[in-house]
Amino acid sequence: MRTAAALAVSTSFLASAASAADPIIIKFSHVVAPDTPKGKGADKFKELAEKYTSGAVKIEVYPNSQLYKDKEELEALQLGAVQMLAPSLAKFGPLGLKDFEVFDLPYIFPDYDGLHKITYGPIGKELLDKLGEKGIQGLAFWDNGFKIMSANSPLHTSDDFLGLKMRIQSSKVLEAEMNALGAVPQVLAFSEVYQALQTGVVDGTENPPSNMYTQKMHEVQKHATISNHGYLGYAVIVNKKFWDELPADVRGNLEKAMTEATEYANGIAKQENEKALEAMKAAGKTEFHEMTADERESWRKALLPVHDEMGERIGAELVKRVQQETGAVN
Ligand code: LMR
Repeated sequence: MRTAAALAVSTSFLASAASAADPIIIKFSHVVAPDTPKGKGADKFKELAEKYTSGAVKIEVYPNSQLYKDKEELEALQLGAVQMLAPSLAKFGPLGLKDFEVFDLPYIFPDYDGLHKITYGPIGKELLDKLGEKGIQGLAFWDNGFKIMSANSPLHTSDDFLGLKMRIQSSKVLEAEMNALGAVPQVLAFSEVYQALQTGVVDGTENPPSNMYTQKMHEVQKHATISNHGYLGYAVIVNKKFWDELPADVRGNLEKAMTEATEYANGIAKQENEKALEAMKAAGKTEFHEMTADERESWRKALLPVHDEMGERIGAELVKRVQQETGAVN
């Protein structure tokens, strides 16, 4: 009884301790530009979270790898140096969460509707729940979009990749994807890609248009193929201990803000990518190639075997469930 009372007192003390004068600070670090689906989602979350908590929580958003690069940001979250991130789903493998690489399989999602069957469904929830074992609380999935391939030489058929050095995120599935095309994959932090392309450390890369445009990669890539061969999106995550120790009312308001910010971010992602593609076309530095049916077939033939090849790593059962749910591969 005494313990329960003490707990109630300490919880209410914590709740009242968080005020606009002495707010709880949440550092939200990310690696992309503010003017991207993720950047805008983070800013929307800040706006809503500060509003719903009446200023008792202050969200500090650090874009463009200002605080941490890809690998460091996950370590910083686990150590509690930063409280919130939204890493790409392709970056959870090095934490030991190989299942997340299912999102990287080529052609696994036919479109955003197919993707949402996973990210808003039971499989998405199971994946977010797995983060708990790493001291991480998964809050939501945020969309970016479907990737296009770029290089300084045309990429029409799958044979055009032979020997090209291609930058990838830290995912074994993406490594297998590039190997299947005969390219040489190279993992680089997102913040290093522009310079690596500019100096010729790598020949090309893959990105949703919004990332390519906001990092100015189109200025250092002569060719791009609108392949939509794979997906890139995010899990919004927080340090679990920090989250669990928040006063319940504050956490509730943050959850509400996250639900609405997710709706907003996922509502703008497709359009943001379309706008970025148009802007890059208008800039006239990169030649954008629309694939013919035969070219698409040559890519699919080269890339679909990656599903079986990576089944053991990701979990064959999970790959099958996602394939069945999205109907992408038949
Ligand atoms: C990348 O490294 O290419 C992306 O994960 C960057 C991002 O966060 O969208």
